[in-house]
Amino acid sequence: MSDRQSDIDTAEKLPAGADHYRAFVGPPQRYGLLSLSQLALLFHLGLRDTDKVLDVGCGSLRLGRLLIPFLRPGGYHGIEPNSWLIEDGFKNELGESARQLKLPQFSHSADFDCTFFGTEFDFIVAQSIITHAGHRNTSRLFETVSASLTPTGIFALSFWPAAAGAALPEPDWTYPFNVGYDPAWLASLAERVGLDWRIIPWRHPGLTWAIAGKALPSAVSFADGEWLAR
Ligand SMILES: C[S@@+](CC[C@H](N)C(=O)[O-])C[C@H]1O[C@@H](n2cnc3c(N)ncnc32)[C@H](O)[C@@H]1O
Repeated sequence: MSDRQSDIDTAEKLPAGADHYRAFVGPPQRYGLLSLSQLALLFHLGLRDTDKVLDVGCGSLRLGRLLIPFLRPGGYHGIEPNSWLIEDGFKNELGESARQLKLPQFSHSADFDCTFFGTEFDFIVAQSIITHAGHRNTSRLFETVSASLTPTGIFALSFWPAAAGAALPEPDWTYPFNVGYDPAWLASLAERVGLDWRIIPWRHPGLTWAIAGKALPSAVSFADGEWLAR
């Protein structure tokens, strides 16, 4: 067995949040599933290789290891304060040639600032980000997402639904424990920043997916393998 394979096997026994690029971002046994399911969701939402995509809290490139090769040069953008995760993602999953060929851009800001790149995005993804973000972080994220989406852009995020009327989480970041949001509070936050909001039936092993945008297409049902033509 190669050293790489044995490192991955060892990582699979670690708890979520442990100090390994595959475990820090969540249960390591789900690393593959959450790579593919995020890319498949973007496909169903109409992803094209010409799109500009922002991956908020991109971690060790669980999505990026598939999305960076697919997009054209300069298409992928990631925000990740823990820059070691990105470096380990390139080193262990994607390879340096992808960085040189596809010119992904990164911000290491912890300020939930999607305007950093000065680009409007066709997609902004935040997979298991507001599951750790306090209400101040989440409000800021929605505000800067709204300022950074194209008119037809889609914000796709996963969240942990709390009971109706549940108290808001603490204002700031919590990790690796999850925090939940009342879906009605998220819907009203989206409305406040000028975004339509819809919970979607896209499979996730522990969370719920939603999309938001300035003008969401009316039908996103995913029934019968349906996808959006953009
Ligand atoms: C549960 S992981 C999810 C990572 C990635 N989205 C994925 O699905 O693999 C949460 C990520 O958020 C990052 N993070 C921590 N503080 C952040 C901040 N202020 N803004 C954006 N991301 C942050 C963590 O370092 C971690 O990579």
